[in-house]
Amino acid sequence: MPVLISCCSVPPSRKSLMPNTFGHVFRVTTFGESHGSAVGAVIDGCPAGLSLSLERVQEALNRRKPGQNSWTSSRKESDRVECVSGIEDGISLGTPITLLVRNEDKKPDDYSELQNIFRPSHSDYTTQIKYGIRPKSGGGRSSARETLARVAAAAIAEQVLEILCPELRVVACVSSIKNLEAHISEHSLTRATVDQNAFRFPDEKLLPQVETLLTQTRDAGDSVGGCISCFVLNCPAGLGDPVFDKLNADFAKAMLSLPAARAFEVGSGFESCKLFGSENNDPFVSTEKGIRTLSNRSGGIQGGISNGETIKLRIGFKAPSSIFKPQQTVDKNGNNVEFQMKQGRHDPCVLARAVPIVEAMTLLVLTDHILRQKLTHLT
Ligand SMILES: Cc1cc2nc3c(=O)[nH]c(=O)nc-3n(C[C@H](O)[C@H](O)[C@H](O)COP(=O)(O)O)c2cc1C
Repeated sequence: MPVLISCCSVPPSRKSLMPNTFGHVFRVTTFGESHGSAVGAVIDGCPAGLSLSLERVQEALNRRKPGQNSWTSSRKESDRVECVSGIEDGISLGTPITLLVRNEDKKPDDYSELQNIFRPSHSDYTTQIKYGIRPKSGGGRSSARETLARVAAAAIAEQVLEILCPELRVVACVSSIKNLEAHISEHSLTRATVDQNAFRFPDEKLLPQVETLLTQTRDAGDSVGGCISCFVLNCPAGLGDPVFDKLNADFAKAMLSLPAARAFEVGSGFESCKLFGSENNDPFVSTEKGIRTLSNRSGGIQGGISNGETIKLRIGFKAPSSIFKPQQTVDKNGNNVEFQMKQGRHDPCVLARAVPIVEAMTLLVLTDHILRQKLTHLT
């Protein structure tokens, strides 16, 4: 039966409500659509007088870029960052920092045939229901292009962290693809070693199998998912709050706000649900370096507050929804139709590109909590 899709029952003021800001003290607002003229971020709450490098922002964006190998989207973007406000002669002014990247390889026509259809497991249907309108081209705000703005903002956050917590390190890698699980030693992991292969999968033995899996998946017009592990080394104890703003809760929100993210765990996570308390507890021990734990199944966070051990996060990403196979769906008028994607640039697996994005969200959460902690201890 044909249905008219709209959200007329929602008052006009509610229709325009769309939270685009993350953080409490170090606040990041992102803007822009995937095939609009630009995307970017406004950072409010960055302390004044800090020496900040835009080259560092550019380097971070280069790591996230699509089109770097044949297993990622072929969209070609230079992703050149412009700083529109908040930094003068390389020094933060304490005013909002606006970072802007113009979209160059826009191809809205590739998406024109999608205007009247709801692509399975994409945001087309839910966006239409919520707003009564959606961008003509592609996923608009839901597109992974938005994450560029988070990476740019996080490159500023990382420089703030280097001043406040010089020892702290954030590094992520692909820890599994479908059922291929990497054996990882987090203490020898660096961004440089992770970037040594196109899949950001730090287990050389399994690399040939990973390459075969991704090549076969791409050539079959299909897609695959997997997990990213992220580690925060040398994190100070005491970050986070005991109730709603638990550090783990803020990481969960940060990670699950990423496109295609479907699962999140800290430390032993879901595995802890299968263990006895005697198996899962982390015994404390007094050492020369202070109070530490003998194991780290808590993943560096207890009671919502960091305990000084390595923070261990794992994020599950689904197989991307865009596949080049016929699928059942419904059009805007409620008719059952068969949908076959003919063109468009898509990632058969988002994992490698999501590594810098997971690091970015980790850095944003940590910077916000470290600045909050400074306010907690003003005297
Ligand atoms: C780096 C990255 C690249 C992505 N590329 C694609 C893609 O090429 N095709 C696709 O269907 N989804 C892709 N996604 C996921 C979609 O943007 C996302 O699943 C979709 O907008 C629906 O949002 P949801 O996953 O929050 O439900 C990508 C996600 C990330 C993090």
